[in-house]
Amino acid sequence: MVKVLIVKNYEELSLETALRIAEAVRSKPDIVLGLATGGTPLGCYRELIRMHREEGLSFSKVTTFNLDEYVGLPPSHPQSYHYYMFHNLFDHVDVRRENVHIPDGMAEDLDEECRRYEEAIKEAGGIDLQLLGIGRNGHIGFNEPGSPFDSRTRVVKLSEQTRKDNARFFNSIDEVPTHAITMGIGTIMEARRIILIASGEAKAEAIAKAVKGPKTVDVPASALQDHPDCLFIIDKEAASLL
Ligand code: F6R
Repeated sequence: MVKVLIVKNYEELSLETALRIAEAVRSKPDIVLGLATGGTPLGCYRELIRMHREEGLSFSKVTTFNLDEYVGLPPSHPQSYHYYMFHNLFDHVDVRRENVHIPDGMAEDLDEECRRYEEAIKEAGGIDLQLLGIGRNGHIGFNEPGSPFDSRTRVVKLSEQTRKDNARFFNSIDEVPTHAITMGIGTIMEARRIILIASGEAKAEAIAKAVKGPKTVDVPASALQDHPDCLFIIDKEAASLL
């Protein structure tokens, strides 16, 4: 069963999430963190940067693995998840470049890149704490509805809804990549601890289905019901259908 923490608003969601991540980093400085992109974690990342600057929170021994990356966008592309992570977190804290892992969506052999990524996670000792967002269709990472619960890191086709949802970051929907590399649901489920964050009414239905709906591949996040240590931190709007 997932645990749910309902908070007042986005500010509080960001703070509660950052506090938990910071506490985990302090108690295990060489922690392996799984990280997400998208709009929801931005406040949490801002707070972690503040804690680094003002409270001496250090990421110098931390290893990170991002959930996903678009296929075909170079790291310099402002909408690539590489760019996002450096711009919104890594450039502002003391994480070491060699400890940062993001799937390479420009790899010549994408399947080989997916195998390499899985191997790198294993070599790092597995993910201690995975941060997740959730799509309006219940996706986690880019595991769209229909993704098998035992799926591994692989190339996936993005659903039209996800491309539309993400078009706001591009000049037009035609520029939104059609494919991505994502950790699989099986990969995510192996993280020792998971925190999923969601804000706003647009996520309410996905949250309700993920928390109390049947476990089904139609709602990828419902797989988390079987995780032994999974916490949803959500605001009142996202919790409105619970
Ligand atoms: C991002 C990711 C996605 C997002 C989800 C929610 O790395 O894997 O699953 O977490 O699409 O995105 P936002 O936070 O923009 O609503």
